[in-house]
Amino acid sequence: MSLEHVRVVTERGPRSGFPVIVAVHSTALGQAIGGCRLSVYADWRDGLEDALRLSAAMTAKAALAGLPNGGGKTVVALPAGVAPDRRAVLHDVADVIESLGGDYATGPDVGTGPDDMVTIGERTPYVFCRGYDSSPGTAAGVLAALRAVVADRFGSHDLAGRSFAVLGVGRVGGHVLRLLTEAGARVVAADVDPSRRSVADSFGAAWTDPHGCLTAEVDVLVPAALGGVLTRKTVPELRCAAVAGPANNQLDRPGTAALLHERGILWAPDVVVSAGGIIHAIGTELHREAPDRVAARIGGIGDTLTRILDAARETSSTPAEAAARLAGWLVDYPAKIA
Ligand code: PHE
Repeated sequence: MSLEHVRVVTERGPRSGFPVIVAVHSTALGQAIGGCRLSVYADWRDGLEDALRLSAAMTAKAALAGLPNGGGKTVVALPAGVAPDRRAVLHDVADVIESLGGDYATGPDVGTGPDDMVTIGERTPYVFCRGYDSSPGTAAGVLAALRAVVADRFGSHDLAGRSFAVLGVGRVGGHVLRLLTEAGARVVAADVDPSRRSVADSFGAAWTDPHGCLTAEVDVLVPAALGGVLTRKTVPELRCAAVAGPANNQLDRPGTAALLHERGILWAPDVVVSAGGIIHAIGTELHREAPDRVAARIGGIGDTLTRILDAARETSSTPAEAAARLAGWLVDYPAKIA
């Protein structure tokens, strides 16, 4: 297989001793962006694999969001059962990012948050979301996508009375859950961390275990935690009409999109649904756009998704294929971005 990525750096962090991986997938449209993930992996090579896949997805995400950016990702592959020295890890990450000279900038992701971006910012300027949370922006984008999905499926954008299963109520999932209940939707939620039940309780949502949530009989399943939840094994168990959520890389492999399609389940590509965070960060920090302009751009996620679902229908392809086609076109012909 040929190397698609512009550059991949893997090093043993000199301070922390942990593998630090920064994958720059594309800089065709501009600086590569993508979050910094701190996760436990059985083998660091699994972390490398994740970085390669997640950075490629970020290229599509940025292009489909209309941003002048490419895709990248940082993964720190932690062994199980250690309590890392966070500062040491984040300074190791920062030095690798700084060595790339601005080709790549990071942001928060699974396992990191705004405070960690401040720590990275002590050693490199190439970091977004220093001290502020991008997850409300991501959640707002998810809501725009969910309105587009229910309109496509049920003929109205209205979320009131519709049912949703939110799988994962961390920073982004928690906001999605709140926005859905505020919009009058019926919500069931779950998380691998049972203590997060309080999030569901505080917004009047029902609680179940992760498998019960995945297989709940609802209008839309909203994966909002780790990727890889849609597989050959889980797709036959689903009892929802559609799947749309912010988790990155929801499909275990590209072919799973066809399984969903065959079952008549609409899958909204995660690269479209999850773009609210980067739209917010780039709009606010780089382009200094006013909040209402940024909010309008995030709302545009709904229109992009509608376009992709329509294109998929017209070309008898899956939404995943339609999104990949559009993303490829945007990367290859950047001048056409309005
Ligand atoms: N985790 C974010 C994503 O997957 C990454 C990010 C957020 C990068 C904000 C930059 C700014 O889209």
